Amino acid sequence: MLKKAYIGLLAVAALAAVLAGCGTAPATGAAQGKLVFNTCVPCHGENGGGNARLRAPAIAGLPEWYLVRQLQNFQKDVRGAQRDDMEGHRMRPMARSLYHPGDLEGVAKYVAGLPIVPQAQTMTEGDKAAGETTYTSVCIACHAADGKGMEAVGSPRIAGQADWYLYLQLQKFHSGMRGTHPEDTYGAQMRAMALTLADSTAMKDVVAYIRSIPVK
Ligand code: HEC
Ligand code: HEC
Repeated sequence: MLKKAYIGLLAVAALAAVLAGCGTAPATGAAQGKLVFNTCVPCHGENGGGNARLRAPAIAGLPEWYLVRQLQNFQKDVRGAQRDDMEGHRMRPMARSLYHPGDLEGVAKYVAGLPIVPQAQTMTEGDKAAGETTYTSVCIACHAADGKGMEAVGSPRIAGQADWYLYLQLQKFHSGMRGTHPEDTYGAQMRAMALTLADSTAMKDVVAYIRSIPVK
């Protein structure tokens, strides 16, 4: 008898919980972003630290305005739509899946708030000293001495990003796979800078230097 009443109580409690769930307004802002982020985890990882095997970069702690711009670029085919851009083809449909109002802004806010995840070194090539000369004469103007980027010129943090991804993006800017769409004004500025790097050796050098910048 007592047991029956107990089960009955449990059932009422469960029903109340379900009804309460129905009544709650849908999550908004970073809470909505946290929910949406579950769809990013398979590639970018639980902590947003990325996955080299899937060619998905670290996104945790990137500036919110930069995340918003990149997600919009992927949505509009401004980034990642060229035929041979394999990584772009992986990411584009994910950006398109953010079609509910607030999804894109919410996930950008949530990801920007995640702590930066230290990246393992995957490249051994590159002359750090030669890279430093390039960095301090060219890159520093927009990405700053500490590699944190500058919102005023629209350049993101690159210190603390994975070496393989930095190298891949320099190649993409150089070849015109990124930064050539007519609406990609920020990408075009960066492409002009990538073109000052003569070859893949110069790219590896500057990546070796960026990797050595301490991340704070
Ligand atoms: C199927 C794997 C996959 C999933 C799922 C995925 N991404 Fe990506 N993402 C990638 C890849 C691969 C790239 C690299 C694209 C390139 O090389 O240009 C990328 C790039 C990005 C970038 C650009 C980073 C930068 O530094 O410019 C952002 C931002 C991003 N993803 C956010 C997200 C968010 C937010 C989600 C979830 C809504 C998500 N991704 C889900 C694979 C994925
Ligand atoms: C004139 C300003 C400027 C200079 C100088 C500059 N950049 Fe950039 N860089 C940018 C901007 C703006 C972006 C963002 C492009 C976008 O929105 O897609 C960017 C993006 C990048 C990215 C991609 C980051 C990511 O998360 O996908 C890398 C890597 C990069 N820059 C490296 C460099 C290196 C190395 C140098 C020096 C050789 C350099 N940049 C010089 C403006 C600059």
